[in-house]
Amino acid sequence: MKEWNPKSWRKFNIKQQPIYKDKDLLKSVEEQLKTYPPLVFAGEAEKLKEHLGKAVKGKAFLLQGGDCAESFRQFNAINIRDMFKVIIQMSAILTYAGSSPVIKVGRLAGQFAKPRSSDTENVNGVEIPIYRGDIINGIETTKDDREPSPERMLQGYNQSASTLNLLRAFAQGGFASLSKVHKWNLEFVKNNSFGQKFEELAQRITETLKFIEACGIDLDKAREFNEVEFYTSHEALLLNYEEQLCRQDSLSGKYYDCSAHMLWIGERTRGLDEAHIEFLRGVENPLGVKVGPSITKDEIIGLCDVLNPNNESGRLNIIVRMGVDKIKHNFPLVLRDVLKEGRNILWSIDPMHGNTIKASNGYKTRVFDDILGEVRAFFDIHDAENSYAGGIHLEMTGQNVTECIGGGQKITESGLVNNYITQCDPRLNAIQAIELAFLLADILKKRKETI
Ligand code: PEP
Ligand code: CO
Repeated sequence: MKEWNPKSWRKFNIKQQPIYKDKDLLKSVEEQLKTYPPLVFAGEAEKLKEHLGKAVKGKAFLLQGGDCAESFRQFNAINIRDMFKVIIQMSAILTYAGSSPVIKVGRLAGQFAKPRSSDTENVNGVEIPIYRGDIINGIETTKDDREPSPERMLQGYNQSASTLNLLRAFAQGGFASLSKVHKWNLEFVKNNSFGQKFEELAQRITETLKFIEACGIDLDKAREFNEVEFYTSHEALLLNYEEQLCRQDSLSGKYYDCSAHMLWIGERTRGLDEAHIEFLRGVENPLGVKVGPSITKDEIIGLCDVLNPNNESGRLNIIVRMGVDKIKHNFPLVLRDVLKEGRNILWSIDPMHGNTIKASNGYKTRVFDDILGEVRAFFDIHDAENSYAGGIHLEMTGQNVTECIGGGQKITESGLVNNYITQCDPRLNAIQAIELAFLLADILKKRKETI
């Protein structure tokens, strides 16, 4: 491996970064961040990698989801709890109804920095810097708020630390115990048909648990029934931040980016000769790379060569995000050619980012059926090549938002206005997420029958 250190990315071309005016302040924030404790540990990242290795072979399924962009303003325990609840509800549906172990990875506790399609936007005739995520600048449409501020990195770290603290408590403190499965159903979901469908599933799980107990197994003593493993992830976009959270493991001497268990590189910053690839190739965490409709076989093999030179299973997750139509035309051949090379790749589908449209009333939105359509196409294409669709990557929330059109609630274009509160892209609400999980469970179950 060519020489690497946590700073070596600085010599490469880099995209999608803020320009900080106060370089001294930037330096002092970086120095401070470097002294802060790691948010995750090397062993946890390795354990996740081991689980993801199983998903490569179709023996587990990756469920990765959360906000498009976390927000400083909408940061509170209820939002974190409800996001956690939906993710474990979805995972119960996929595990029980889909007969597949589920690896739970939140897009949270650090998902703050956003790549954007332009550097500025025009607000009432004035050109101001674009919003790049709360860890970089503010969302208000004023020049002042949009000025990138290094101190936001400290707030981002602190919010990530307390989010992770609560997630660890939920995951390990009894809240996620299978005996509480009925309590995971969110209040506003209960009255919906998919909430009721979840109640029925919860009832079946409860009966199964009673049966297991009657067989003489003490459920209180079995960790598997009382705790969940919950991992965190985000786009490693702001490298001034990620570099400072980079730590060398005292046991192995290897480097980990301890800002999250898993990091990914976005579609816009995945150039092989650019800074983001340079930074992430040197850390041992499991990595994701988003790939859009223009991806080629050679680019994917190039990503494997640089990011996963030892062909480790579970190290590299290629996250396909082409859109419901383009995936059908573009993906089959690329997949067939890549498969010939025998690389260990975890393939997952992000059915959100290729399906963003602008509604006639100006809202950025996504149609539920397009999302589902891309997921189905992804599975069909893998089936046709005897390959495994190993995971899904979603923008979603536990809140009752109206940001995506359709689904069982039949949210319409004009209904988007009711509760459209995302900081960036439109998210599935909890009911839409649960509905999608049931539909996905059917797909997984059918696949299981043929493995
Ligand atoms: C995202 O995940 O929010 C994102 C910007 O995705 P992509 O890199 O696929 O555009
Ligand atoms: Co997004």
